[in-house]
Amino acid sequence: MASPNAHADDALVLGIETSCDETAAAVLRGPRDVLSSVVATQHDLHEEFAGVVPEIASRAHLERILPVVRAALRDAGVTLDALDAIAVGHRPGLIGSLLVGVSAAKSLAWTLGIPLVGVDHVLAHLHAATLNAELLTFPALGLVVSGGHTSLFLMRSATNVESIGRTIDDAIGEAYDKAATILEIGYPGGPKLDAIAQHGDDRAHDFPIAYLKDRPLHFSYSGLKTALLYAVRGTPVSRDGEHVYPHAAADLSDQQRADFAASFQRAAIRPITRNIKRAIAQHPAVTCIVAGGGVTANSRLRDDLATLARDMNLPLRIPPMDYCVDNAAMIAGLGAELLASGHTDDLSLSASPRSSVA
Ligand code: KG4
Ligand code: ZN
Repeated sequence: MASPNAHADDALVLGIETSCDETAAAVLRGPRDVLSSVVATQHDLHEEFAGVVPEIASRAHLERILPVVRAALRDAGVTLDALDAIAVGHRPGLIGSLLVGVSAAKSLAWTLGIPLVGVDHVLAHLHAATLNAELLTFPALGLVVSGGHTSLFLMRSATNVESIGRTIDDAIGEAYDKAATILEIGYPGGPKLDAIAQHGDDRAHDFPIAYLKDRPLHFSYSGLKTALLYAVRGTPVSRDGEHVYPHAAADLSDQQRADFAASFQRAAIRPITRNIKRAIAQHPAVTCIVAGGGVTANSRLRDDLATLARDMNLPLRIPPMDYCVDNAAMIAGLGAELLASGHTDDLSLSASPRSSVA
């Protein structure tokens, strides 16, 4: 039985997010009013592998999902029977991880007799800037920068989005994580590299800034990663059939490491601001720039986007730190928005490794 509140703008929605290495649950009243948001990270479990191990991730989600849901309900001061709907991030992500969240969401929706709403994680990152904040204005220029995506969107509404630019190889967050591995500064790489770069000279090294002549709104990060590797460790020589690097990252001084990090950041972020400018030139009706995804936590990107928005005389909508990286508040929020527009899913909802939009 559907709750009487199910399609109202103030529906009480539980959101569940398990697409990668964060187990998260949140309760929202309507699309923007966050009552609770709980995130259990698995960084400690994946650290020794310098990346997310899918099998370990799904097992950890299984162990954590119920305690995390309970904590979100407790923090919001609500009980299960007060919920109007369950929203779940069902794509894109690691399939085994997604399935844990999708199964939990289906079981809850079925048991409680309330609607289930499947949410695309990439679109949810674009919704994050509206949490506890103003509505967006449309059309908007959307940017998602995360471990899996580097994408530009023309947004006509929160759900009517057109992909206009994307990476042709690595995502920017992936490049940050690999750069951190090359510099041997630990996992997760993005935040660590961000901190180290604060003390570096961003002009110390002239890393390639990708320019795709025929696809001016697209991105490429694999060349930058290789350029950093060779700059840090030297050009490899072949010895006994193996590639051997003449230098080791362990020999770098703190200042050298900081200079590499700062120069990497300059080359990684420049294509983002440049392509946003190009996209807005192509779509002059855009009324604001909306950013989301883990890399929007980056201090240099935040500064550069703020400067760009000021120069272009457009508002910049960017989430506070807690809602940049993966969380379930953005899932519940977009779920509430979809619900208010009359959209629900049935129990055949499946998980998918691919986004519907990127
Ligand atoms: O959105 P997210 O939490 O997960 C995905 O949807 O992928 O993004 C995770 C990515 C990781 O690659 C992480 O290194 C990066 O966001 N990240 C950062 C920072 N904080 C997180 N990258 C650069 N600077 C940061 N401060
Ligand atoms: Zn994400």
